Amino acid sequence: MYSGHNHPGIPMKYKFSEMLGYMKPSEIRELLKYASMPDFISFGGGMPNPLTFPMQDLKEIVDDVLDVSGKYALQYGNTGGLPELRTEISKMVMKTEGIKSEENEIIVTSGSQQGLYELGKIFLNRSDGVIVESPTYVGAISAFNANAGKMIPVEMDSEGIISDKVEEKLKSLTGRPEFPRFIYVIPNYQNPTGHTLNLDRRKHLLELSEKYQVPIVEDNPYGELRYSGKKLPSIKSLDKTGENVIYLGTFSKVMCPGLRIGYTVAPEAVISKLNLLKQALDLSSSTFSQYVAAEYLKRGVIYRQVPKTVELYSKKRNVMLNALEEHFPKDSTWSKPDGGMFIWATLDKKINTNQMLKTSIENGVGYVSGLAFSPDGSHTSSMRLNFTFSEEEEIVRGIKKLSNTIKNVATGITAT
Ligand SMILES: Cc1ncc(COP(=O)(O)O)c(C=O)c1O
Repeated sequence: MYSGHNHPGIPMKYKFSEMLGYMKPSEIRELLKYASMPDFISFGGGMPNPLTFPMQDLKEIVDDVLDVSGKYALQYGNTGGLPELRTEISKMVMKTEGIKSEENEIIVTSGSQQGLYELGKIFLNRSDGVIVESPTYVGAISAFNANAGKMIPVEMDSEGIISDKVEEKLKSLTGRPEFPRFIYVIPNYQNPTGHTLNLDRRKHLLELSEKYQVPIVEDNPYGELRYSGKKLPSIKSLDKTGENVIYLGTFSKVMCPGLRIGYTVAPEAVISKLNLLKQALDLSSSTFSQYVAAEYLKRGVIYRQVPKTVELYSKKRNVMLNALEEHFPKDSTWSKPDGGMFIWATLDKKINTNQMLKTSIENGVGYVSGLAFSPDGSHTSSMRLNFTFSEEEEIVRGIKKLSNTIKNVATGITAT
């Protein structure tokens, strides 16, 4: 039972809801506090590099939006999203992911984070199960916890979630109260591991979705950030029924996160429920941001911007991979992502990355420990390293420092 209202310093009159008992503060947010220390190198945040923000184009777009549509752009908007933005999103997901959609199968959300929260809210009763990759996106854990979902972690390897293990879970949970309401996956350059789900497993998940009547939630914020490897079809585009997949996208990594525009593509039956809920959440996502995003797509700026982002990030990825090769302890392993923003490193199992974090921060380097992404308290010797934010020189210096911290901590453990 949650006893938040008995927390020291909180007056008894504030009786917080039980739901808060399921939530924990984000380690990443805590870390951001240190990001401004001089000389601090942060591999912690998941922030896009501001160099990729299309500043000049956005300036022109903002001016034009205010000149041409100001009185609408600054007004309340349609809950489901600006119709012209939905039209543009529909064209974009067809072009980039081969996803067919009508306007009434799309809802614009305040970031895809809001989409995740909403999905938790419309599908989950207390203790309903959700199959998640282990490890998975920390924001999804928060969103599902906030709706009292029960995480059902499934192991991953370098080819993504192991679909045979998903099948085992579905089989064993059939008829049980915690049978999953959906399967949540990040198939491309996953956060936090950087792994990509292979094609056979994408198809297998779809078969399982159909056989066990469990929808798949496909979260794809990083799909466009591909530096190597072949582009794989989205699970949604492989779904012939049009019913098995709920697809989440965002402008955060292909434009900028500050405008907070994400979207969900799903059968109308789902979208109408999301709409109903959104009326209670925020009435609509920012109308102004939606006008800007619509122009960003209409003018094709996105298709000029993304290649520049890819070029910048792929160099940084290579720099970090090389630095890891050169400096990291030989008993550690790390992912070699084909895209996205993160490398997942796993150290000798005697090292607890959560406990090591304070020392590492004191030595001037931040990361996020594996535990933050763990649905079940596992991954205690792993860490997520962001390679998109720091300068190349900082990446090398930071990995060197981090390697020294790890070696010192390991020696300390061995000595005691
Ligand atoms: C896997 C994943 N899903 C969703 C989000 C949320 O993104 P946003 O709310 O900015 O669209 C993120 C952000 O980092 C993410 O990594």
